[in-house]
Amino acid sequence: MTIEEKVGQMSQSTSLATPFSENIKQEIRQGRWGSFLNAGSPADRAEAQRIARQESRLGIPLLFGRDVIHGYRTIFPIPLGQAASWDPALVEAAARTAAREAAAEGIRWTFAPMLDIARDPRWGRIAESPGEDPYLASVLAAALVRGFQGASLDDPASVAACAKHYAGYGAAEGGRDYNSTWIPELLLRQVYLPPFHAAADAGVATFMTAFNALNGVPASGNSFLLREILRNEWKYSGMVVSDYNAVTEMIAHGYAADASDAARKAVNAGVEMEMVSTSFRDHLPALVKSGDVDRKTIDNAVRNILRLKFRLGLFDEPIPSPATSHVTPDSLAVAERLATESTVLLKNRNDLLPLSNSIGSLAVIGPLADSRVDQMGTWVMDGRAGDVQTPLAALRQMLGDSRVHYVPGLRSSRDTNQQEFSAAREAAGRSDVVLLFLGEEQVLSGEARSRAYLNLPGAQDALVDAVAAAGKPMVAIVMAGRPLTFRETADKVDAILYAWHPGTMGGPALAGLLFGRTVPSGRLPVTFPRSVGQVPIYYAHLSTGRPPLASELGVPAGTPVDPHGYTSRYIDLDFTPEYAFGYGLSYTTFEYSNLRVSAATVPMGGTVTVSADVTNRGSREAPETVQLYLHDVAASVAQPVRVLKGFRRVILKSGATETVTFSLTTNDLAFYNEKLQPVTEPGQFEVWIAPDSAGGVKGSFTVK
Ligand code: GLC
Repeated sequence: MTIEEKVGQMSQSTSLATPFSENIKQEIRQGRWGSFLNAGSPADRAEAQRIARQESRLGIPLLFGRDVIHGYRTIFPIPLGQAASWDPALVEAAARTAAREAAAEGIRWTFAPMLDIARDPRWGRIAESPGEDPYLASVLAAALVRGFQGASLDDPASVAACAKHYAGYGAAEGGRDYNSTWIPELLLRQVYLPPFHAAADAGVATFMTAFNALNGVPASGNSFLLREILRNEWKYSGMVVSDYNAVTEMIAHGYAADASDAARKAVNAGVEMEMVSTSFRDHLPALVKSGDVDRKTIDNAVRNILRLKFRLGLFDEPIPSPATSHVTPDSLAVAERLATESTVLLKNRNDLLPLSNSIGSLAVIGPLADSRVDQMGTWVMDGRAGDVQTPLAALRQMLGDSRVHYVPGLRSSRDTNQQEFSAAREAAGRSDVVLLFLGEEQVLSGEARSRAYLNLPGAQDALVDAVAAAGKPMVAIVMAGRPLTFRETADKVDAILYAWHPGTMGGPALAGLLFGRTVPSGRLPVTFPRSVGQVPIYYAHLSTGRPPLASELGVPAGTPVDPHGYTSRYIDLDFTPEYAFGYGLSYTTFEYSNLRVSAATVPMGGTVTVSADVTNRGSREAPETVQLYLHDVAASVAQPVRVLKGFRRVILKSGATETVTFSLTTNDLAFYNEKLQPVTEPGQFEVWIAPDSAGGVKGSFTVK
């Protein structure tokens, strides 16, 4: 290969235009591009592949990548919603479906899973994240890699996955997208790297470097991340692509003087393919000639790129013929199940839910009740609005049109025009129960969609007030790409279902939950703050030297002697979250009891089992996600008050009791010490088996 052909393999372009231009086809013949992202139609891709294979000097196939983030044609809940299912097997099945649909249209590389731990709901990309916890995120990371990549990459229904955005992107200061991240290495290793390590261990074929500077060094020029951690420590053998223009953005970062400097720093740090910007193509040949870049560096990068293409079978497969994917009954069934399991019941006063089928009529209020595009959520390129079944359509199908009175009340989630409010209130007056569909439109979360406020946008709270005047029972169904703060509205309604953006089958899933065909089982993968003023707030926090006391809950009375006390809390807001990590209600109640530990003392290197009884005290069979939390009481580096160490989904019949047992080795108790080594130290440990990060039954043991 000439140096130009090598650098061509290291260059990825895009083309919003379809069909591809003659210029692009000529460049493919010249071997100027190794890959395209988000480009063309299936026919364009097939033609481009034919040209690459038959009309270029070396016949090296192109690799087509795409953002298949939470579905291709069949759209599943946004990743934050999928995380709320705590069901890795189902998340894997959804990824498998997405891979099959994408591969059929010539896409063999997806830029997923996104594995950025997110503890700041102001950040728009929390919608794409697996939430705030590294353990849950790591389990999901492995499941998604298995789903996308299948048993082997050369399966024509498999796509190469991409662990992104490496690393620390979710810690953007102020929740502002692309902003600086300052993460001590200990925290980086304890919280932000584990999901990426899990993806690497699961065999993820590629990594993508993040936009952010990590401790002043942009991720695309960060050899600590790309060489020391990824290659030397994790022995990773896959391929590394930059994010979109992230290489030349190092100039704007103030880290590279110009495009040539950016290319040199990126390729020497370990970036192997440049996404869209062309500094590699424009400058690497000269940098190799001048000796600023070692030829071996180029050869290693090209080897990794070609190896990926061989592993995908691209050299051997026949030229693909253009095909079109469609949703199928099977794909829709997976989408409905995952939308069902992702939905979290946050409130159910007087067991208003599930509603009875004998109900007279329903008022359905709010524009999100019937918004096909919004329901799919962020990062949707190939989902068809025509395939989406909205809650309104599903409810009409279930009850008949005459029993469903729909008044949007607002034209969109940001609308402030209250002209329709009286019609909404009137519809409520004619109905037995009111369903309020609230939340965020699709465009209010995702990339470059950070918000300084977390409230319901527009005049939605006022719409709730207007409808509340009818005095009927009310259920809020919230569709959003992030945790929102809506306490006043939450107090006014009787029940709340948090549906995130539920995707193509959100309607049937929500109708099934509302009328009890299914039971809510979602559990929050991220803490919900009471106010944006509490952010960042997350469950696995340190105690501090002055932890707030249970007696200090609520807001000080404001009398002359109040506020008083010197503990870590606010004087104008309760210090606890609105809803805790792991929280979610059911249509039954589960009782946790009788926690037992297999031994009071555990030798270093030993194993301890922790068990508890979980009883279904209600009248319905239901799933429950039983969670295991640990606290290292005294350690050489202070440890969080609780850390998730395991979870198990059980399904219990009414009245049934199941003993749920977890096993922990002393390695599972390890944390990173000041020398950045994973260590387990002797001492006391507390352990919970719990329904969420705030409750449960507790025990303890000592490691000798
Ligand atoms: C975007 C995103 C990244 C995506 C890539 C290609 O800017 O940061 O997640 O995969 O560019 O669209």
